[in-house]
Amino acid sequence: MATRIVTVVGASGTLGSEIVRALLEKGAKVRAMVRATSDRTKLESLGVTEFVVADLRDANSLQLALTAEPRAVAVVASAAGFSAHTARTKGDNSQTDTEGYRNLVDAAKDAGIPRFILISILECDKAPDVPHFSQKFLTEKYLAEKRQPYLALRAGAFLDRAQDVVAQRVRKGVFPDIVPGGALDMIYSPDLARYAAEAALDLPASALNQSVDVRCNVPATGPMVAAAFTRALGRSVVAKPVISPLLVPMLPMVAWFVPRLRDQIKALGWIRKGGYISHESQKQKDLFGELPTIEDSVARYCRDRGLIKPTAS
Ligand SMILES: NC(=O)c1ccc[n+]([C@@H]2O[C@H](COP(=O)([O-])OP(=O)(O)OC[C@H]3O[C@@H](n4cnc5c(N)ncnc54)[C@H](OP(=O)(O)O)[C@@H]3O)[C@@H](O)[C@H]2O)c1
Repeated sequence: MATRIVTVVGASGTLGSEIVRALLEKGAKVRAMVRATSDRTKLESLGVTEFVVADLRDANSLQLALTAEPRAVAVVASAAGFSAHTARTKGDNSQTDTEGYRNLVDAAKDAGIPRFILISILECDKAPDVPHFSQKFLTEKYLAEKRQPYLALRAGAFLDRAQDVVAQRVRKGVFPDIVPGGALDMIYSPDLARYAAEAALDLPASALNQSVDVRCNVPATGPMVAAAFTRALGRSVVAKPVISPLLVPMLPMVAWFVPRLRDQIKALGWIRKGGYISHESQKQKDLFGELPTIEDSVARYCRDRGLIKPTAS
């Protein structure tokens, strides 16, 4: 069988590079869609040789990227306008996540791409006041409206966060808790990446055209994750709030002065109210098998980050 090509959008991102790794492990060829300014170092070290330069805000560049031959069997879309990763790029904001994603869906449809795997967000259909979340839902609706075959993977919060600050804090015995006193659904990004690769290459067409919640088996509180780190590392790790509870009432004021943080602060408020918890797990089980546990995800994270030595097999 000819090698199958998958185009990864947002390939230079935290999750994007994990998706690239998972696709390469499955024997696919990756066409990494990057911007002219993207850092390609990690992708090149993974063995990516094919790059297409495009920007979600430039419809022509997407059309060229998605009509490259041989045509890709799937597009996996992991780009995001609102994130710490992209803050350095001026002008990056909801235009990427709204118009940009519509441009991408249009280009995929026009190019006849057989499947579009969207990295979406858990409960995004229930968060109309959180821009980055509700914009994912708009893209899901647009995919359905355009009749572009798709699968939306609605992910919980990444255990390894967009900019991975967890490992350095855990080394000092602290797990940074973003919802003190509350719980949220989490996923370790390599698991989500593996699902995205399976969705691009292996799932039958009958599994497409739906949204699937993706998470660990139970919602986690900060102390639960800290306890899992304590067990994995064999030394004490305690949960500490990322933001002091005294400062939380001041967040709306911060958002007023620092527009870049508005979306993140709205998301945080919504998560604190318990919004970031799935009510459905059967689809994830049916498509990808048993849900990972927090315990196992934390243990793998510790091994992958070199916090503990791999066990001899
Ligand atoms: N972090 C979480 O907890 C979480 C939870 C659920 C879902 N998600 C979703 O997971 C996905 C990946 O998140 P992440 O943390 O891996 O993001 P990330 O590290 O910030 O990566 C974002 C990627 O998007 C690219 N990008 C940004 N604007 C673009 C544009 N206009 N055109 C083309 N590419 C553009 C960036 O390229 P450059 O390298 O050029 O900047 C980068 O490759 C996102 O869709 C996010 O919404 C994240």
